[in-house]
Amino acid sequence: MRLKNKIAVVTGASSQGIGRAIAISYAKEGAEVFICSRNLTKLKSAAEEIRKQIPGAKIHVGHVDITSFEQVNALAERVVEQCGTIDILVNNAGILLRGPFLEVKESDIDRVFEVNVKGQIFCTQVFVKKMIPKKRGKVIMLSSEVAIAGLDGISIYGATKGAVSALTRHLAIELAPFRINVNAIAPGTVETDMSRKNLSNPQWREKVKSRFPLGRFAQPEDIVGAAVFLASTESDWMTGQTIVIDGGFTAG
Ligand SMILES: NC(=O)c1ccc[n+]([C@@H]2O[C@H](COP(=O)([O-])OP(=O)(O)OC[C@H]3O[C@@H](n4cnc5c(N)ncnc54)[C@H](O)[C@@H]3O)[C@@H](O)[C@H]2O)c1
Repeated sequence: MRLKNKIAVVTGASSQGIGRAIAISYAKEGAEVFICSRNLTKLKSAAEEIRKQIPGAKIHVGHVDITSFEQVNALAERVVEQCGTIDILVNNAGILLRGPFLEVKESDIDRVFEVNVKGQIFCTQVFVKKMIPKKRGKVIMLSSEVAIAGLDGISIYGATKGAVSALTRHLAIELAPFRINVNAIAPGTVETDMSRKNLSNPQWREKVKSRFPLGRFAQPEDIVGAAVFLASTESDWMTGQTIVIDGGFTAG
């Protein structure tokens, strides 16, 4: 077990998406996991499902809106009170914004930056303060292929993910003296609640799929190997990097 006795916090883990898959993989590797999101009912049923899937798994729920510094702070206090420490933070919660650049509304720009950038900053500030005294910790950000490659109709979301990858590099330097590793994962299109609505249009689905040389979309499980690696001691000499998992899209 690669994460035995580690305490992990995964944000945005109530849906059937990447966060949930990462939480499951961490529990399988022996970690005690806080799955966190805004919807308490969904969180509780997600926790139940994970416990059924992995008998003996230690799963806690953390009710939090990551755009509220107070709520994030209260969650961190609860994690430390309940588990004594925090070893791994996965900044997975995020929202999508699609649409032509020239038509994007200010309120939508504010919201996507608030969740995808400010929310990740709040969580990192608060949880890293708990890691600093023990001089050890792993922070994993969710970036995206669109932080690296340009695409039609996704510029503002892409800008938030570019900010996440930049933040990853800066924090890697600033937190290195505390032996806190900060890395990111940049997936291509993963079939989750986030992408499903757009992919339900058969023509659009085929068009998007054709971008991936490996000939399919990712499933959340395609992302978990990197997330386990970045949380484990195997990545102890790696920081400030973004691992791209995109079916070969950015290789072209
Ligand atoms: N699905 C993809 O194709 C894809 C590709 C690249 C990157 N990503 C990134 O991966 C991450 C996970 O996305 P997903 O595809 O699993 O989507 P998802 O919609 O299943 O998961 C996003 C989660 O974030 C939560 N969330 C949103 N706003 C929140 C807030 N303010 N406070 C707390 N929780 C909040 C949602 O409730 C949800 O559980 C996101 O950061 C996303 O940008 C997704």
